[in-house]
Amino acid sequence: MRWKKVLDDMKPYKPGRSIEEVKKQYGLKEVIKLASNENPYGCAPSVQTFIENAGIEPQIYPDGYAGSLRKKLSEKIGVKEEALMFGNGSDEIVMIISRALLGSGTNTIMATPTFPQYAHNAKIEGAEIREIPLQDGQHDLEEFVKAIDDNTSVVWLCNPNNPTGNLIPNDDLLGFLKRVPDNILVVLDEAYFEYITEEGHTDSLTLLEEFPNAIVLRTFSKAYGLAAFRIGYAVGEPKVISYLNTVRSPFNVTSLSLAIAEKALEADKFIKKCNLLNGNEKKRFIAYATNNKLHLFDSEANFVLIEVPGNADEASEKLLTHGFIVRSGEALGTPGYVRVTIGTEEQNTGFFAAFDSLLTDAKLKL
Ligand SMILES: Cc1ncc(COP(=O)(O)O)c(C=O)c1O
Repeated sequence: MRWKKVLDDMKPYKPGRSIEEVKKQYGLKEVIKLASNENPYGCAPSVQTFIENAGIEPQIYPDGYAGSLRKKLSEKIGVKEEALMFGNGSDEIVMIISRALLGSGTNTIMATPTFPQYAHNAKIEGAEIREIPLQDGQHDLEEFVKAIDDNTSVVWLCNPNNPTGNLIPNDDLLGFLKRVPDNILVVLDEAYFEYITEEGHTDSLTLLEEFPNAIVLRTFSKAYGLAAFRIGYAVGEPKVISYLNTVRSPFNVTSLSLAIAEKALEADKFIKKCNLLNGNEKKRFIAYATNNKLHLFDSEANFVLIEVPGNADEASEKLLTHGFIVRSGEALGTPGYVRVTIGTEEQNTGFFAAFDSLLTDAKLKL
């Protein structure tokens, strides 16, 4: 078959190890997965009840326009209905943007390390990838500007950035948007938006009128605790959204996911609670890192990137034996660190105890 040549040296997404797999491998009764930045508090109880009684008609195609959810979300966040597009997770929106704008002869700019799907999709589309190294976990926007040329088609800003968790300061983002030519799409991927605790942080939706070449991606997978239902959305200038809609497959989000996301929009209290609990638990990670003289990146998300003694693959493997699944930084472009989803108070207490034994082993080795 005539596969795109570029696929020969690429690999499909490799999911982290499942809880069941780790239980079996190490003979553990309980295993806690802190590897995929899922919500340790689940979803809102009202949404859980709704799922159980949803009454979806399986034989009917979903509403390809997502009319009901669209109306509710547009009212909630104060944008026009035509400014929205829904995707099968924001993953799919990354793919749609790449398919619509990238190809050979174009280039695309992103940080490194960052969310790997930007480069993955760009590579498949045959675009040149320009990766700008983070500076202390932060996007180096000066270097982004220098990398732009006439063939630049898409700029990706992951904000907060995965895997470091850093947030781009308001003024830096604004200054950057002013300098980007208006024929380049700037993607603000805000998968972790609901977790931001920084006071005075500007909601980037307020920037869209001044910068119609920017688009904001958000998701129901993280703070809303609905990763299993695969639904995310884009907010942008209606003309931009219309182009992307042309690329989108007609029934890309299931009826159940649309209904659940709509219900979840009512759960403001739950989102606030998750933001607060996550913020409190993040402080415990900061204290733990400080007490043990370990570097930890400033995170405004529901995960932290924390230094480990020695090799991160080995540290992750050792944490597995204690029943904790985390992401090794070796594969994320941050060797010597692991990315840990901030769990519940109890989960984190267990995690710190497991990490203590890593530190003890490292001292014994010296
Ligand atoms: C920065 C970022 N963007 C997008 C996604 C994809 O999220 P979704 O579940 O909406 O596809 C993730 C998931 O980890 C992410 O970290």
